[in-house]
Amino acid sequence: MKEITLNYKNVNGFISDKEFLRIQNIIDKKHDLLINKKCPGNDWLGWMDFPDRISRPEVDDLMETGEWIRENSDVFVSIGIGGSYLGARAAIHALTHSFHNEISSISPRIYYAGNSIYPDYLADLLDVIRDKRITLNVISKSGSTLETSLVFRVLKNYMLKEYGEKGTYQRIFATTNAHSGALRKLSEETGIKAFVIPDDIGGRFSVLTPVGLLPMAVVGIGIDEMLQGARRMAQMTQSPDIFRNISYIYAAIRNILYEQGKVIEILANFTHSMCDIARWWLQLFGESEGKDGKGIYPAIANYTTDLHSMGQLVQQGMRNVFETFLIVEEPGIDVRIPEDARNLDGLNNLAGHTFGYVNKKAKEATEDAHYSGGVPNLTINIPKLNAYYVGQLFYFFEKAVAMSGLLLGVNPFNQPGVEAYKMNLKELLKMK
Ligand code: PA5
Repeated sequence: MKEITLNYKNVNGFISDKEFLRIQNIIDKKHDLLINKKCPGNDWLGWMDFPDRISRPEVDDLMETGEWIRENSDVFVSIGIGGSYLGARAAIHALTHSFHNEISSISPRIYYAGNSIYPDYLADLLDVIRDKRITLNVISKSGSTLETSLVFRVLKNYMLKEYGEKGTYQRIFATTNAHSGALRKLSEETGIKAFVIPDDIGGRFSVLTPVGLLPMAVVGIGIDEMLQGARRMAQMTQSPDIFRNISYIYAAIRNILYEQGKVIEILANFTHSMCDIARWWLQLFGESEGKDGKGIYPAIANYTTDLHSMGQLVQQGMRNVFETFLIVEEPGIDVRIPEDARNLDGLNNLAGHTFGYVNKKAKEATEDAHYSGGVPNLTINIPKLNAYYVGQLFYFFEKAVAMSGLLLGVNPFNQPGVEAYKMNLKELLKMK
């Protein structure tokens, strides 16, 4: 069976064998710290073996709940922010129809809320869900995040008016920590069903827990296959040897390039369905590495679209950038280019080829142009888009950012900087 691979031929000339050897020595030590749970943030390593630890009854419960929601809802609203929604959205966008909400007759329309305090978005959402059978999944590990709590309050209030207490609490599912906080209390007081986010897994590492798995189950994504993919990637990233561990070689290359002044990484997509995977990656890497005055700035681009906006800067701007391409080898669905009798656009030489073919050539053209313009680049090859490979990909990045953050000399598992704005806002809102 094919697995996800990393092609790094386009760092040739930027990284010498000596540098690989030097970083290998550091990785050997960091690897020991990581697997023996002695690294900074060692209380937050539960994600490493969670795909093995999650129990059969818990997976079955998630699938059964997903099925109940699917059968009893026109609209499913996932309420959460940051690590509490980006992973689910990434997987759902990757694995469902691009126009899921417009065409899906077998699963409810999906909306994401609680990830902002935009008044216009919330007001419009209330319009769209009116008179529909609504189910909510409110996701918050702490149970106290302002954006999530505020939006949940509004939607719960709307539902109480529509369905009464009993009907509302049947249609609300919470995903939160096991012991405390407003959501846990609500579940104890009203009987709403609540799934558990393990204490030792932080938000941005929680996609393969009920945080991500329940919304995925709602749209019928094979969560067993996803966990199987993650378990396979856990095996593939066990070795400390950078040439036998794709997460570590990715982490090694990023850090060597960073030391050379390549302080921005662009994760560039060539597949529409992968756009939200990139947004999940952005948080994973930004929040894990950007601290103590250090960190590679993660940026995302969708090619070829953004070649017409960012292409100039990447090709000829400051040489402080490297790129990682996210490629799906077999797009699965495709469109063939037709003959045109007049051929006024001069494209008849492409007739008979597919968009997938042209896209592949565009990627080759881009990587060569950027490489020769001084932008080293890597390619992550995903054999095809299914739950198994998306599970692999999530785990690949999680393991990579763990090692990458340790190489950088930071604690990859905390986010102390996020508190500053929250404290200011609480003061301004006169909250205790
Ligand atoms: O990675 C993180 O820890 C954050 O992005 C959190 O997931 C986010 O702030 C939401 O927190 P909570 O789940 O407690 O509402």
